[in-house]
Amino acid sequence: MIAGPSLSCYCLLFLFLLGDAGAEGSQKAAPEQIHLSYPGEAGCMTVTWTTWVPAASEVQFGLQLGGVLPLRAQGTSSLFVDGGLLRRKLYMHRVTLRGLLPGVHYVYRCGSAQGWSRRFRFRALQSGPNWSPRLAVFGDMGADNPQALPRLRRETQRGMYDVVLHVGDFAYNMDQDNARVGDTFMRMIEPVAASVPYMTCPGNHEERYNFSNYRARFSMPGDTEGLWYSWDLGPAHIISFSTEVYFYLHYGRHLIQKQFRWLERDLQKANNNRALRPWIITMGHRPMYCSNADLDDCTRHESKVRKGLSGGHYGLEDLFYKYGVDLQLWAHEHSYERLWPIYDYQVYNGSRESPYTNPRGPIHIITGSAGCEELLTPFNPFPRPWSAIRVKEYGFTRLHILNGTHLHVQQVSDDQDGKIVDDVWLVRPRQGRRTYL
Ligand SMILES: [Fe+2]
Repeated sequence: MIAGPSLSCYCLLFLFLLGDAGAEGSQKAAPEQIHLSYPGEAGCMTVTWTTWVPAASEVQFGLQLGGVLPLRAQGTSSLFVDGGLLRRKLYMHRVTLRGLLPGVHYVYRCGSAQGWSRRFRFRALQSGPNWSPRLAVFGDMGADNPQALPRLRRETQRGMYDVVLHVGDFAYNMDQDNARVGDTFMRMIEPVAASVPYMTCPGNHEERYNFSNYRARFSMPGDTEGLWYSWDLGPAHIISFSTEVYFYLHYGRHLIQKQFRWLERDLQKANNNRALRPWIITMGHRPMYCSNADLDDCTRHESKVRKGLSGGHYGLEDLFYKYGVDLQLWAHEHSYERLWPIYDYQVYNGSRESPYTNPRGPIHIITGSAGCEELLTPFNPFPRPWSAIRVKEYGFTRLHILNGTHLHVQQVSDDQDGKIVDDVWLVRPRQGRRTYL
């Protein structure tokens, strides 16, 4: 006969569980995974973080690194239950700071009486169109093998960037291991994302449970939980959208039309505002074009993002061409590729000598080589006539929007210790930018 566990065993187990909970209890209300985003309103910044138990959501901030932080802002928290087997619970806190002075450095900490974060520092974005934003742009960065992250962290700490754009595919994947991989990733990017606004769009790796980890963890402008939104930054209007609506139709085919109509309205508004914000820049995860050696959508002549669903409905190339979009940022391919100004496979360089001065079609940059477990993507051995440069090295892109007519793009190679491996200026006169037609 096999005896069951004795009463003393149960007691020991109970004490062990109690002890475990007690040890963690004090830390469970401590903020972690702290990151910033710009809510699209001048003088504002949103702080987002996670706790493991319900807690108040407060940010204390001020101008001095030491001493009391005199300013206070309150926000809200919401329970996020991951879709994995364990149904892990995360409490997501969001607080928007208002009335920030343009370009001024602030110090902040977040949390509640139950636990505070350490202090972080950020610079409020300048307001209005007349300044020169500097951005770091990349996609496809994982918790495993995030090659470019240490360099990005150093450069962010040196104050080289006002904003980071992460063009989809995070952590690989945020939902993995009952969303613990998402937690790890958000902790990893904290030194960057708690110091500059970390702006995002969803990629295919965010798909699980209808993009629930993506929606819960980031706080992007507007009311679409970050699936698509737009905002102004200096002389540019930046539109972030989801290419994934074209691929995961089971979450709602109607989303393609909904987003497309929103894009068209937003582009019309942005075009009417060109005098103030001359640049229109888009970011979406899966490119329309690419010359990689794989079977991705962008390698197909009629890619879904470019041409829409079969029958040519809701394709984005015509839409972006019609409204004179200047620059399109993509990722998904784990490499860097810059295209000549292009429309419908035709190259529309400004001139032979200066292809990017007064181009007659949009410019595409594919920058998905920040580093992840899937390593780099090889290129097709036969370069396409519309492909200007291809770099199969880890790195990220710098975007310097100098003013309303000049924009500087550089590709930083992490493999070559920060060497600039692509360097190009886009120049468009203020007039005649509303369309290429
Ligand atoms: Fe992807």
